[in-house]
Amino acid sequence: MTTPPPTRPRPDSDSLRPSGPDWHVVCEDVFKIYKVATLEVVALRGLDLHIERGEMLALVGASGSGKSTLLSVLAGLELPSAGSVQVDGRDLLTMEEADLVDYRRVQVGFVWQQTGRNLIPYLTAAQNIELPMVVTGMSRKAIRERTAALLEAVSLTHRAKSRPEQLSGGEQQRVSIAVALANNPPLLLADEPTGELDSHTGDQIFDLFTDLNHRFGVTVVIVTHDDHIADRVPRVVTIRDGRIATETYNRVETPVSGAPRTVRHEFAVVDRTGRLQIPKELREAARLGNHVSVRLDDGRVTISRDNDPSTRGPGPGSGA
Ligand SMILES: Nc1ncnc2c1ncn2[C@@H]1O[C@H](COP(=O)(O)OP(=O)(O)OP(=O)(O)O)[C@@H](O)[C@H]1O
Ligand SMILES: [Mg+2]
Repeated sequence: MTTPPPTRPRPDSDSLRPSGPDWHVVCEDVFKIYKVATLEVVALRGLDLHIERGEMLALVGASGSGKSTLLSVLAGLELPSAGSVQVDGRDLLTMEEADLVDYRRVQVGFVWQQTGRNLIPYLTAAQNIELPMVVTGMSRKAIRERTAALLEAVSLTHRAKSRPEQLSGGEQQRVSIAVALANNPPLLLADEPTGELDSHTGDQIFDLFTDLNHRFGVTVVIVTHDDHIADRVPRVVTIRDGRIATETYNRVETPVSGAPRTVRHEFAVVDRTGRLQIPKELREAARLGNHVSVRLDDGRVTISRDNDPSTRGPGPGSGA
């Protein structure tokens, strides 16, 4: 008889915005600067993000925008250069090294894109899953039971004795997810976990994340380049240039007559200091330059180019 992972209560997935006070992750004004010789790369520049316990969200953005950096910070693998990152009320920036080691072992699970990075090649699927529990000193009996439960949760009981090379890419990622969940972390992070898989297998892995999120209330953050997957996650956060630029909420709505359908609500994000990123397409369409006019018109904030000396043409008309 196997013991399933404990179930956590799930927040109301139907709500448009996470509004409860039970924040699992709170990032405020986070900076991450990598120093390479004399060069400094600012990977995160004042990033704000709140994630509610039990949420599932996708993190998208152009290459180099800071997605993997953010995930590494949340995983406790990289320390932010400035700002505050709280996970379950613990501040990762001020945590003692011993607490950070404990945090990485039991508070967070991580799945990388490269299957080879997740698994030890000479261990079987079951042994790979057992390893993180051995490190935390769990009893042999508890390890055996939990390994069986996790293999069952990822539908791989029949492959327990296979080594990674004997498994398909999708099966390897399923074992990787079980390894990440071994110590029952409440937070599961995955950096392009479907990137090396064909679309059908990628869908199956994505469905597994959704299932684990629904059944066990694990908070899931997935970095993806796949629009198809991003469409199926309740909340999609777009990073641009090291900051959150937009957020999209995919909400299932049931009309009075007719079948339920997913409706997208996209928001630009205004940070605590009032900063807003205006997408390039909109800036170009409205011909906004470096200076814009921001006015309050009848309860609406209007951004226009009419006071912009750098974009004003020689003609009399200058309003956007
Ligand atoms: N270890 C590092 N040392 C120096 N610079 C780094 C390091 N890791 C990331 N960077 C830089 O930080 C920026 C953000 O990188 P990051 O890997 O977070 O982007 P990403 O959004 O994950 O991109 P991709 O979609 O290509 O994976 C990039 O300019 C990158 O070159
Ligand atoms: Mg990356």
